[in-house]
Formats: sequence, structure tokens, C-alpha cells
Amino acid sequence: MTIEIGTLIYQGKAKGVYETDDPQKVVVEFRDDITAGNGAKKDNLSEKGFWNSIISAKLFEILEEARIRTQYVELIKPGLMLSKKLEMIPLEVITRNIAAGSLLKRYPFEPKQTFEPPIIQIDYKSDEYGDPMLNDDIAIALGLIDEYRLKIIKETTLRINKVLKDFLESKGILFPDFKIEFGYDADGNIVLGDEISPDTCRFWDMETCDTLDKDLFRQGESGVLDAYKKVASMILDDEDKEKWNI
Ligand SMILES: Nc1ncnc2c1ncn2[C@@H]1O[C@H](COP(=O)(O)OP(=O)(O)O)[C@@H](O)[C@H]1O
Ligand SMILES: [Mg+2]
Repeated sequence: MTIEIGTLIYQGKAKGVYETDDPQKVVVEFRDDITAGNGAKKDNLSEKGFWNSIISAKLFEILEEARIRTQYVELIKPGLMLSKKLEMIPLEVITRNIAAGSLLKRYPFEPKQTFEPPIIQIDYKSDEYGDPMLNDDIAIALGLIDEYRLKIIKETTLRINKVLKDFLESKGILFPDFKIEFGYDADGNIVLGDEISPDTCRFWDMETCDTLDKDLFRQGESGVLDAYKKVASMILDDEDKEKWNI
């Protein structure tokens, strides 16, 4: 099947979304642009989109196997993911298994403190307002979501966390935290969209404790792309590697 890539309908900071000849599908293009601090720090990292799309595709496949609804249809080729077209919900749903990042700046948690059960934090996805943290009442009062759907999102997020954490740990990767976005498909189902990659997750090498994610870029360190490649090589099986010639 050949897929006609049509008009660009959304150009984000790191990805683009294109129409296709199927009104219910889009192509999500993973670009090499990388940003941090709400776009304050910017760069272009050759091949980043390639690796992020492969990592995302693998993690969406793992979730689909666990019967979690995702946007994922297929990776047309590295960088281009055929996806269900979603009406995105402007929430950034963050799950925290281990204390890191902004949580340590804002609250007196101990670095690497573990959370059992995990913490779910929901931010308002808004460049204009700087992605402020919400609580349930504010999210509902803003009309971003209702109570029933918020409950579904939280329950689904906990399932996603469990499936991904178990999978990643089996591959030697710790999963301190991650950010996901949901949207509605044509039938009104709540579906996991966007991406699951080192741009949007913390991944730590279980053995060496090395950071394998965008924190390297935030901290101005070298080896960002090597870390992303390492995540791919740790989570992909031989069949995947053969398919993508890596
Ligand atoms: N399946 C989908 N259908 C429609 N829009 C999507 C889908 N998945 C992700 N998006 C949206 O596309 C954009 C992805 O580009 P990105 O560079 O991450 O944007 P942003 O700068 O807004 O984070 C996001 O706004 C995201 O909400
Ligand atoms: Mg984004």
C-alpha cells in the first residue's frame, strides 16, 4: 500500500503532522529539531528523528500487544509514522516512578526517591502559558476534560506505565518518568498519541546509571544521539534491527 502524504496540518517543535488520502489517518513526521525549556534552547541533531520514530514505534507496538489503544498504524519508514488522526487533548500527562528533573526543583523530594504507587502529574499543554501544572478542578473548569474522561486517562496512564516499565526493565533500562498525550479518534475513544521517545521520557541505563535521554541535551552534554541509539539497540530485537537495517 502506498500512502499519499498530503498537506502539513500542524508543525510542532519536533514533529510535523500531515494529512493522508484517508481522512482518519495522518503521517507524523519525526524531525531532527530538538528543543528544551519550552523552546528556549534549540538545535538540530542529525538522525534524531530516525531513532525517535523507531523507538516510539517499538513502544507503541508493546502497548498495542497489551491491548492499549494507541495512534500507531505503521512506520512507513524511519521518520514517518502512519497514525490514527486524533483530536488532541491539550494535557501533558506525566508519570513519575523515580524523583528527577523539575520535581526536585519544586519540592523537597530526595533525588532518586522511588514512588510506589507512581505519581501522575497533569500539565496544561500551552506554549502561551508555559505548560502550568493543573489539578483536576482546574482542568475541568477550563473545559479541557470532564471527570469521567480524566479518570479514564489516569487509569490508562497507570497501565501504560506498568507495561512500559516492565518491558524497559527487562531490557536493562530504568524508567524514572515520561510524558504522554492523548486524543480522541473518530469514534470518540481516548487514544494514546504523539510519541514515546528519549525526547519525552527519562531512560537510565540500569547498570551504569547513565542518562540515555534529552537530559543530556538540556545539560549541554555531548553524545546525545549516541544515547538515543543505545536505547534503540537495547529495546529492539534482531528482527526489528534487520527490518530497519541498523
Ligand atoms: N495522532 C495524532 N493526530 C493529530 N495530532 C497529533 C497526533 N499525535 C500528535 N499530535 C500533535 O502533533 C504535534 C506533534 O508535534 P510536536 O513537535 O511534538 O509539537 P509541540 O511543539 O506542540 O509539542 C503535537 O501538538 C501533538 O499534540
Ligand atoms: Mg511535542
